[in-house]
Amino acid sequence: MPDHATALDALGLTITLTAGPTREPLDPVRYLTNHSSGKMGYALATAAARHGARVRLISGPVSLATPAGVERIDVESASEMLEAARQAIADSDIFIGCAAVADYRAEQYNEHKIKKTPGDETLVLRLVKNPDIVATMASAEPRPFVVGFAAETRDVEAYARDKLERKNLDMIVANDVSQSGLGFGADENAAVLLWRDADNEPGRLELPPQSKATLADAIIATVVARFHATQR
Ligand code: CTP
Ligand code: CA
Repeated sequence: MPDHATALDALGLTITLTAGPTREPLDPVRYLTNHSSGKMGYALATAAARHGARVRLISGPVSLATPAGVERIDVESASEMLEAARQAIADSDIFIGCAAVADYRAEQYNEHKIKKTPGDETLVLRLVKNPDIVATMASAEPRPFVVGFAAETRDVEAYARDKLERKNLDMIVANDVSQSGLGFGADENAAVLLWRDADNEPGRLELPPQSKATLADAIIATVVARFHATQR
């Protein structure tokens, strides 16, 4: 671990994070989800605890151990994740949305297992948009310092800056998920941190490919420094 991981710059702060995928049920035995492993969010929770913060981790279904000293709240769907985030917001100084929230859920949940219809070769599922959790946190009053992630396959920084503005976030962590061996499921990742400073000037910090643990540490250090800068 880098030396600054031992800097207790987040002492006295409460940091709430979301991590992992969400799972959107179709019927009692089936669901829609994505490939998020939760590794990046769990690495961030670990780093935040090392920086001295009280850490609350709202987690979708993952096969990872709860980091030491972290309070974990397990959820499945995006709606459950939003509800847990709403309950956590009042006493959070910083909210980091790292979860790969499913953008859509089934319009109708089937109480019973969906059966094949004889003769039908296709099945149409109608999906509806899920609420945006980070945007909801960023529009709350009073609101914590809100950090989002942007996983993109092209025009990474342009799309990420657009999300920063559109969701009214304080900072965004842009990931290029088209690079093999980085991001989804991998142990390594790279990122570009984007924000607006006090004079509304664009801020930018590029973090090269490294382990998710050291990357998480650098992200937490930057988020906490920006948080303190905005409190002045
Ligand atoms: N996010 C969220 N709630 C959603 C969708 C996304 O909180 N319903 C958050 C993610 O946790 C992440 C950020 O929004 O911090 C960006 O997620 P991403 O999937 O990159 O962006 P979207 O706004 O969903 O846009 P798109 O998938 O169309 O690129
Ligand atoms: Ca999305």
